[in-house]
Amino acid sequence: MRRGALAFVLPLVLALAGCGRLPGARAEAEPPARPEDVLDFHTLYSTNCQACHGANGHGGPAMELGNPEYQALVDDATLRKWISGGMPGTEMPAFAQSAGGMLTDAQVNAIIAGMRKEWAKSNVFAGAAPPPYAQDQAGDVKRGQQTYQARCASCHEKPSRQQVTSLAYLSLVSDQALRTIIVTGRPDIGQPDWRLEPTPIPGRPPAVYAYLVGPPLSAQDVTDIVTYLGSLRNPAAVSAAPTPIPPRR
Ligand code: HEC
Ligand code: HEC
Repeated sequence: MRRGALAFVLPLVLALAGCGRLPGARAEAEPPARPEDVLDFHTLYSTNCQACHGANGHGGPAMELGNPEYQALVDDATLRKWISGGMPGTEMPAFAQSAGGMLTDAQVNAIIAGMRKEWAKSNVFAGAAPPPYAQDQAGDVKRGQQTYQARCASCHEKPSRQQVTSLAYLSLVSDQALRTIIVTGRPDIGQPDWRLEPTPIPGRPPAVYAYLVGPPLSAQDVTDIVTYLGSLRNPAAVSAAPTPIPPRR
């Protein structure tokens, strides 16, 4: 019998015999792991997170988890809270089985441990003290609007970046998500961290931009800006808000 024909007939015989392997042969391969047995960080991350948070934690539509400043600022309990329960006010889903998701607590812990191992770096802030991760004081809309105009608007008045103050953008992000982005920055898309220093371009002299001249944002500045942006979600407040900067012609 030709080999081609054997390849065709043999599976048929085995199927008819109701048996996946030749009688007497030992089972060599492990049965495939059940989804909840997978504890490898890379597998868990690429299956569950990468589509939104980007390959290796960079360049996705959602928060840059691979930013070492983010990993340095956020604690394990907070990561567990968002990953398990989702982040209300954003597209971030709940992953824990206890919250209707697909992952066991052990898998959530494996993701957290993997992110730390792959993306955290020691001494990223090199002595600088970033504003705290969580808001810990009351914010002021008026002050936030002024700080936004002085420190953010020059970059964000470009029509392509206008969305930060638009209702369409603000209705998709929570205050915490805004705060995180302002404090830790998103080097992958060009958003500076709270120090608002321009990203150096190799081989070019350092650029001096008027909007970047100024001290790092204080914790109060960040809280005020988030309070101001949050106030723009309320359409009634938008009419009361100062006129936005007109787009450049
Ligand atoms: C459907 C898209 C989507 C998927 C899938 C997703 N996320 Fe998110 N995630 C988001 C969005 C949107 C936010 C809110 C922040 C933002 O807008 O960038 C977020 C926020 C987070 C935050 C909180 C950020 C902060 O401000 O502290 C963490 C942590 C996080 N995601 C981890 C994960 C992990 C780990 C996975 C995979 C298990 C995952 N996400 C899967 C969309 C997603
Ligand atoms: C040096 C220019 C620059 C400055 C200053 C700057 N940004 Fe940005 N920002 C960017 C760029 C570039 C992006 C990414 C591209 C985009 O969203 O248009 C961005 C993105 C963002 C995003 C995320 C948008 C998204 O799609 O997820 C937020 C929120 C944001 N900026 C808020 C601010 C706030 C608030 C300030 C002031 C504290 C500020 N930015 C100052 C350049 C800047």
